[in-house]
Amino acid sequence: MKRQIVIISLVLWIALACQPLAPAQTPPAVTDIPTETPTQQAAEPPAELPADPNAGADGLGDSFYPGFGNGGYDTQHYTLDIHVLDVQTSQLEAAATIEAVATQDLSRFNLDFLGFEITSLTVNEEAAEFARNDQELTVIPAQPLSNGGTFTVSIEYKGIPDRMESVALPIPTGWVVYDDGIFVLSEPDGSASFYPVNDHPLDKATYTIIVTVPEPYEAAVNGLIESEVDNGDTTTYTFGITDPMASYLTTININDFDLETMESQAGIPIRNYYAASLPGNVNEPFARQGEMLDYFGKLFGPYPFEVYGALVMDTEFGAALENQTLSIFGVDMVDLDDIEGTESVVAHELTHQWFGDSISVADWSDIWLNEGFATYGEALWVEYDYGKDGLEEWVTAVYNEVKAYPEYYPPPGSPAPNDLFNGGVYLRGGLTLHALRATVGDEAFFDILRAYHDRYKYGNASTEDFIAIAEEISGQQLDDLFDAWLYDKQLPEMQGME
Ligand code: TRP
Ligand code: ZN
Repeated sequence: MKRQIVIISLVLWIALACQPLAPAQTPPAVTDIPTETPTQQAAEPPAELPADPNAGADGLGDSFYPGFGNGGYDTQHYTLDIHVLDVQTSQLEAAATIEAVATQDLSRFNLDFLGFEITSLTVNEEAAEFARNDQELTVIPAQPLSNGGTFTVSIEYKGIPDRMESVALPIPTGWVVYDDGIFVLSEPDGSASFYPVNDHPLDKATYTIIVTVPEPYEAAVNGLIESEVDNGDTTTYTFGITDPMASYLTTININDFDLETMESQAGIPIRNYYAASLPGNVNEPFARQGEMLDYFGKLFGPYPFEVYGALVMDTEFGAALENQTLSIFGVDMVDLDDIEGTESVVAHELTHQWFGDSISVADWSDIWLNEGFATYGEALWVEYDYGKDGLEEWVTAVYNEVKAYPEYYPPPGSPAPNDLFNGGVYLRGGLTLHALRATVGDEAFFDILRAYHDRYKYGNASTEDFIAIAEEISGQQLDDLFDAWLYDKQLPEMQGME
């Protein structure tokens, strides 16, 4: 059996196609990048708040995106109650309740939130003042909060989500409306387009998401469905996400769906949502997700969440995204004439549940820890079907591709902040893991992956954390290997490749 190797990872073909041809040029500072937000209202004048030592920071210290997230508190649980009054215009009326713990004395703190009219804002049920400046919402509670104390912020808001494009890649992000429905893709910074949030993966939380949609629409959200209530003209869906989740992985999708449920052999529940207008055999490339879950569970450690599934929208967006427990696919990512090629994308998003979702980056500059691992997951799925020969073929094809077009595949350890998801992060990132495997051997390699997941699951990790585990388990000094693969302009030789 011979397999056609899909040379270019299909996962983000628009971003790959838009790749600038001169990656060596220094990227502009993130704040200098002109962003086009067609429907965005003029930014409100900067809030003039006096300097205050007890003000929470307006960022979480990310080296690429210092304004993402906020300091001074740690969110525990979000309850989002979103009424979609009209799907076509996307008129929303919503309430967000955030339970958090102060990590310093706080006279005020920030959330990330874009657009809408805020109609009510309380902290611990007392009306609070607030100020808005672009994506920063500053909340000034009536009573200062003390370090270590729990507090609850409740925000009611209404309006139409602003359209946004991320600083990190040129595709629509956040809450997206199209002819037949709504979908949400928020990596890395789209969540603030539909709820107030501490929007950085360092602050994970659990969620309850309640969505009310007009009949005949349905809602598909992360996690497990807790209830579905028919109110006559509308339906209310409640979903619970009981494992910590990075805010960018929150997703709400509205359409008419065909729901498919099954279980992996090991007993992991699977629920897939297919937009009802899609052909009946759209589920074919997803038929082996149970097998993938069980196989990857053996390689990486037990599947970390309580459910998994895929959601296919009936519109093209040139991408798929690993939303926690519910990966989303644009219909253009699903090629029913190439089931195996599509399975690569399915395996990629599924691998992200361990690497990306359960372990999230501590800093966005470490994005290869997501995309390199998920790309290597594609290789592992080829190996599952075609053994070592298939794996070798994959490695050779990808290596030759990266070698032939170095400008498309820069070193994965240092992407440009305005081109976070470049081809190098994917393909050369995947090859980095193969180079590690070729150096330490299969047994140590999979021990490393399992130890890494076991130690950092439901949390965050950095490249350094991963290297430390790899060195600890292999007993080898691996700095030179990782330096060359992650940062050298020149593509290193692949050990063992003909
Ligand atoms: N993480 C996605 C993947 O699996 C790529 C991606 C990043 C993306 N940001 C996105 C997809 C925004 C859709 C929208 O490779
Ligand atoms: Zn990916």
